Amino acid sequence: MSQCIPSLDIKKQIGTIRKELDAVIKRVIDNTDFILGKEVDYFEGEVRKYCNVRYAIGVSNGTDAIRLSLIALNIKPGEGVICPVFTYYATAGAIATVGALPVFTDIDPDTYNISVSSIEKVIREKRDFKIKAIIPVHLYGQCADMDSILKVARKYNLKVIEDAAQAFGADYLGSGNLSSKRKAGTIGDCGAVSFYPGKNLGAFGDAGIVLTNNKVIAEKINILRNQGNKQRYYHIALGFNNRMDTIQAAVLRVKLKYLDAWNKRRQEIAAYFNEQFKDLGIKTPLVPRYTTHIYHQYVLHSKLANTKIIDYLKKKGIDARIFYPLPLHLQKCFRYLRHKKGDFPEAEKAAKHIIAIPVYPDLTKEEMNYIISSLKEALYG
Ligand SMILES: Cc1ncc(COP(=O)(O)O)c(C=O)c1O
Repeated sequence: MSQCIPSLDIKKQIGTIRKELDAVIKRVIDNTDFILGKEVDYFEGEVRKYCNVRYAIGVSNGTDAIRLSLIALNIKPGEGVICPVFTYYATAGAIATVGALPVFTDIDPDTYNISVSSIEKVIREKRDFKIKAIIPVHLYGQCADMDSILKVARKYNLKVIEDAAQAFGADYLGSGNLSSKRKAGTIGDCGAVSFYPGKNLGAFGDAGIVLTNNKVIAEKINILRNQGNKQRYYHIALGFNNRMDTIQAAVLRVKLKYLDAWNKRRQEIAAYFNEQFKDLGIKTPLVPRYTTHIYHQYVLHSKLANTKIIDYLKKKGIDARIFYPLPLHLQKCFRYLRHKKGDFPEAEKAAKHIIAIPVYPDLTKEEMNYIISSLKEALYG
């Protein structure tokens, strides 16, 4: 049997809610309030409620959500911002393109999230610029160890911007008390979310949101996203065109209603995969007690080189991927930071051994079993 299993089947998902989507898109066309229209206000309100957060400011994409957060937190050119070296480019790209310096740290080999001990280590290293903030990334859909990160941040007076691009809807459970349960992106000074089409909650183009409980930050971002004006044609800050399109908000409002059910389905699929892979000598995702996992990606770790396994799966029609094949310190664009191979061994190891297999709510049992049997063949012939 040969099949074609994409890493995410957006078409299938759209098919299940097509009528609702068509209706809201028509509504936006009829209203013609295409940018920061009514639907954006409604969506922001629904996100505030969903995340139990005081402010949610819709923006153009997740990268700009990080950039605006950095600017609103007064991170200045030449200042340092800590982030994991194993993340999507945009985390560090946002830091670098506001003129700040990415200060890379290694990752925890079990969760692939930022290693807290390496945060303290880089802070103690001597350098000729000041470190002002940390951007933990909730990679693949589970939260970084926020309690420990906030402790370090308080100790060294650093701001914290959560990169929740991949984790919208995940719960940070902290110590496990009900009172400590919070949504990813609402724990630090602010959180940046991406609604890129491939995300668990995906728009029909680029979109993002900034979450914060801080009124001053929220007001700044509100002004910065819209050319620095509060009142049209009166510009009080050097802002940007980082507004959210109304059509994206309308689509996201429809999808938000289904997000928890979709994430639950991803968790069930992950549980099935975990069970099937448990005696295969391959490491399944480890979910620490302080977080839930919404499986934006389901990532395995094999002792073998991942490229061979991925090649085999691709031949079988399975779109398995490596997130990410080259850690940021080895990317050409960050050469000026003068890192070298070997600087971040856990990230470099992960890049060579992790395999993301398709996980999305509409994956059928037959497709899951096909992925499982193909992976077994890839590992053991
Ligand atoms: C970890 C991480 N940060 C930031 C971003 C940037 O989001 P966007 O593509 O919406 O700009 C992404 C998106 O892929 C991401 O995965």
